[in-house]
Amino acid sequence: MAQLWGGRFTKETDRNVYLFNASVDFDKRLYKQDIEGSIAHATMLGKQGIITESEKDQIIKGLGNIKAMVEDGSLEISDKYEDIHSFVEATLTEMIGEAGKKLHTGRSRNDQVALDMKLYVRDEIAETDALLKELQEVLYRIMSENLDTFMPGFTHMQKAQPVTLAHHIGAYFEMFIRDRSRLADIKKRMNTCPLGSGALAGTTYPLDREYTAELLGFDAPTGNSMDSVSDRDYVIEFLDALSIIMMHLSRFSEEIITWNSNEYRFVEIDDGFSTGSSIMPQKKNPDIAELVRGKTGRVYGALIGMLTVMKGIPLAYNKDIQEDKEGTFDAIDTVKECLAMFTGMADTMRFRKDVMEESAKKGFTNATDAADYLVKKGMPFRDAHSVIGRLVLSCIEKGKSIDEMELAELKDICPMFDEDIYEAVSLETCVERRLTIGAPGQAVMEKTLTAYRTYLDA
Ligand code: ARG
Repeated sequence: MAQLWGGRFTKETDRNVYLFNASVDFDKRLYKQDIEGSIAHATMLGKQGIITESEKDQIIKGLGNIKAMVEDGSLEISDKYEDIHSFVEATLTEMIGEAGKKLHTGRSRNDQVALDMKLYVRDEIAETDALLKELQEVLYRIMSENLDTFMPGFTHMQKAQPVTLAHHIGAYFEMFIRDRSRLADIKKRMNTCPLGSGALAGTTYPLDREYTAELLGFDAPTGNSMDSVSDRDYVIEFLDALSIIMMHLSRFSEEIITWNSNEYRFVEIDDGFSTGSSIMPQKKNPDIAELVRGKTGRVYGALIGMLTVMKGIPLAYNKDIQEDKEGTFDAIDTVKECLAMFTGMADTMRFRKDVMEESAKKGFTNATDAADYLVKKGMPFRDAHSVIGRLVLSCIEKGKSIDEMELAELKDICPMFDEDIYEAVSLETCVERRLTIGAPGQAVMEKTLTAYRTYLDA
């Protein structure tokens, strides 16, 4: 047990209390950010003449050594320290002596941990964004290879109208565009520096907060020192963005699981991304997609957990805030792993174009187009809807699709049908004539893809 605050106490902390209170077990993952922030603080203390040039140099060199030693494994972050801040400061003092004791001048662990967490979330926003982009690259490739792969589009899980695989995958591409822009928004809003807020009320030292903010790549220092040390909005916003990413991945997983089923057979997940059964030799299961769908729960849990932690916290710092870490770390690890796994699975998945196309031909996905055909011949849409409804009923009785009906059979239902009906309700026509912005017609999809390429290259 090594504590920074023993002076006022006459008795050792109870061992179990110490363990309950300590956070080093999990906040050790902030060592890099803690050292980065400490180097900026020391640099500023030196510039302002609050510590000497030589003290500043010793501190910065010592901190650099600690980072290198932690990374090469020669220095272990031991649980003998209460938290990562205590570890870094105590190790520094052990290594460089007196100067190490001056690092914490004009600083509190409250602004220190607020800074560490912000630096960490900012780094993780960048990593999450990069993983999303990799997934988008894979989706882009699948789309560009499947502009004319017809498949049924569904509503209510019932065949609705024909689309293409490129169009269907494009829907997810759009979701991930929004996810990435959400991350960018959060970064913009959170990019202010809490360092220099002290415990809650600033300090009497002439700290240059603008300078440290700039050194650490922030847009500006935070505006209110009490808010600075107790604000975790950016953690909540990040968890919210991560939850939405998981919601998207989970929907996508659900579709892949369905498409991979024996009944659909739209896709085949690669052997490298499937698992078998211990009893049923024939099985090849979509466990990866199922796990991504399942892990969504713990990320939502972290968001609700953090909202709940913060809801009763009076100003300013309270120890409850230490609970911002474990759930957030778990959520970040989970999302990054899910993104990497999902991308690999999507990249190696085989699409059975023939099965998709056969499926699109069945289930009257061209019924709307048959109604539109009559509308173009002058019938009001509501009447055309009713005529085609009767046609579908007759098709079902005869076990035929619309295009399998003889012209005489069609004319029986409505004399306005002519030879050109067959072309009008073919799968190709149904898709290719859908040329409104955002529709599956190849000509618009090509434009959409060009825009996606520009987006990815920006
Ligand atoms: N481990 C603490 C946390 O994560 C660091 C800040 C401690 N501050 C304090 N006044 N006890 O929030």
